[in-house]
Amino acid sequence: MLRRKGTCYKFDTPHTSLVIDTGKNAEILYYGPTIRSQPEYSIVRPELDWAGNGMARSLFSSYGSTDFRECGIKLVLADGSSATHFVFKKVKKVPRPETELPFSYGEEDTLRFEFLDEYAKLRLCLYYTIFADTDVISVVTELTNVGKKSVHIRKISSLQLDLWGDGFTFSTFDGSWGIERQRHDSLVTSQLFVNESRTGTSSPFHNPFVMLSRENEVYSFNLVYSGNHKETVEGNACHQVRFLSGISDSFFDWELGAGETFVAPEAVMLFAKTEDENTREMHKFVSEHIVRGRNKKKVRPILVNNWEGTYFNFTHDRILEIAKKSADMGAELFVLDDGWFGKRDDDTTSLGDWFDYAEKTGGIATLAEEVRALGLKFGLWVEPEMISPKSELYEKHPEYAMKPLKVDGTLMRNQLMLNIADKTVQNYIVRAISKVISDTKASYVKWDHNRYMTDPYGKDIQSGEYAHRCVLGLYSILRRLTEKFPFVLFESCSSGGGRFDLGMFSYMPQTWTSDNTDARERYDIQRGTSYGYPPSTMGAHVTASPNHQSGHASPLETRFNIACGGLMGYELDPTKCSEEEISIIQKQIKFYQKYRDVFFEGTFYRLDPKDGGEGFMFVSPDQTQAIVVGVVKNKVTARTNYRFTLKGLNPAFNYSVRTREQANYQGELSYVAGGDLLMQTGLQMQNIFSDTENRFNSIYSRMYVLKRLS
Ligand code: DGJ
Repeated sequence: MLRRKGTCYKFDTPHTSLVIDTGKNAEILYYGPTIRSQPEYSIVRPELDWAGNGMARSLFSSYGSTDFRECGIKLVLADGSSATHFVFKKVKKVPRPETELPFSYGEEDTLRFEFLDEYAKLRLCLYYTIFADTDVISVVTELTNVGKKSVHIRKISSLQLDLWGDGFTFSTFDGSWGIERQRHDSLVTSQLFVNESRTGTSSPFHNPFVMLSRENEVYSFNLVYSGNHKETVEGNACHQVRFLSGISDSFFDWELGAGETFVAPEAVMLFAKTEDENTREMHKFVSEHIVRGRNKKKVRPILVNNWEGTYFNFTHDRILEIAKKSADMGAELFVLDDGWFGKRDDDTTSLGDWFDYAEKTGGIATLAEEVRALGLKFGLWVEPEMISPKSELYEKHPEYAMKPLKVDGTLMRNQLMLNIADKTVQNYIVRAISKVISDTKASYVKWDHNRYMTDPYGKDIQSGEYAHRCVLGLYSILRRLTEKFPFVLFESCSSGGGRFDLGMFSYMPQTWTSDNTDARERYDIQRGTSYGYPPSTMGAHVTASPNHQSGHASPLETRFNIACGGLMGYELDPTKCSEEEISIIQKQIKFYQKYRDVFFEGTFYRLDPKDGGEGFMFVSPDQTQAIVVGVVKNKVTARTNYRFTLKGLNPAFNYSVRTREQANYQGELSYVAGGDLLMQTGLQMQNIFSDTENRFNSIYSRMYVLKRLS
């Protein structure tokens, strides 16, 4: 809800308030838990320090004033100067601007704060948006050249949030291929902390989701963007902390012609008193206001993907055998991964040749029909933004590749990127992929992207604009295809979880979380990912043991339990599973189908490491059911009493607690306990040594079903 008193504007979300005063310029007076009244100016406004850090909690900053901290906006004007002086002009309730970028939707209200630099002839507008059902506040920054000459934007942050206080921790979610989104905490001091991606994508190295926290204050931030990004935090000696986020300014240089407007990617920010509340609100925001389309509310099919089962080495008959066994197991969708097109027998060839490798598939359209005849839906893998130098497409159109024509270009996984900033290339991709979907009637498409941007070049495109123009090109392709095929479930992927961001989720409701499917390592990856993204966005598959990435063995039941922390599926060759394994999988699938609503719609909680145990759980919206996965990561011989406490239950309810029937586990647990007790004392993993799963030298886990007793 929006309220105004004098020059102050108060944004109230369900549990927080943000107050912006426009009396002098525009600055934040308060951001935190809900307050009843407008705050008294003299109490909440920090004193200006006399070292020159002028505006205490301004909504933005630019170069050339007395604010010497990292600034959000850096420009080069037509006369070569860079100092700007934006003056607050007005504030108005408006809809958000129209742009080629994806935005969140379903908002309650938006206020536009408008500033003008008379000399530079630039208008800056900041749109602050609130939502009725979540504490997220979104900010869109827009710069318009109202003069007659071009200016250059060297940096434009999407969001600036100036905080007041010491002792903040900056949490980033970093990694690489196979170790995505590992949480790292840095204590904020008087220096600049940087979280940045320069790969052309949001990257597995530094996810755009970050947090700033101290006791009773947890701020989290993200960008609705899939390209290069940068988040910085800077403290100083006067108890001030500045957070900035937006497109990375490394190599960024955008020419803003007369009359033109640049809209920066939407930034989202969220305040909560605890990490759990912050996660809960962020999950709600992503599920309700980012994910969209016909699949938004639909529980996702249990799939079998053949990648780790066969890699490139398959024939029509082998795929059909796998599909048959998948149907026997109770799966709902079969996905044919890489290797079905051109002459693709390995990763050195054929990207771009999106036509059937008929000798291998026996005719992809026929194979799709045969799979459907088994009662399964059919899905297919594509990697449309890429080109193999060894391909028909490259022979015909070498100019489509992202690089200067005469340069060989840097290969990664033996492939080049396509110049998706170019309209002709965009049209080619939309045409080629439309044909694949129409020919096979695929109801699921896995959209992969297996390298980073190098040799950035597109004819007639300035290099400082190139990376962002590619992201706009990607969004245009995704918009056209998802509008054309609204029923298709798209899952994005980038060598696993290399493009896990809110931009992609605006088109594709789920992403392959990581190529690392080792249960123990996956647990950490999913846990890190869960701070910013709900499990309903995370593809999570049970794969063979020993694991292909780590070489570690882990029990089939544990692999299933961990995969239930995301969208559970299987990625193995079921024809190689024993009878016993097939029967375990059949039971797992039945169990998952029975409780799928709780997994899909329930509130997710990370269970904190304590007394040897940890894990995660889902609680149904009415708190009458919960599924708990208890995990022991460091099992020590002869040590008993592994325990973990639960969250999110109703303290007044009594729950029956039962272990899911796990193969090889003899001591089934069944008792009744109050929600208050379970959240205080927790669950103890009993009989851990009577369990034959225990022989595995890896993560150990058990799943519990809680039901309210009437
Ligand atoms: C990388 C993906 O992350 C894998 O799941 C698989 O689809 C391969 N690409 C196929 O090349």
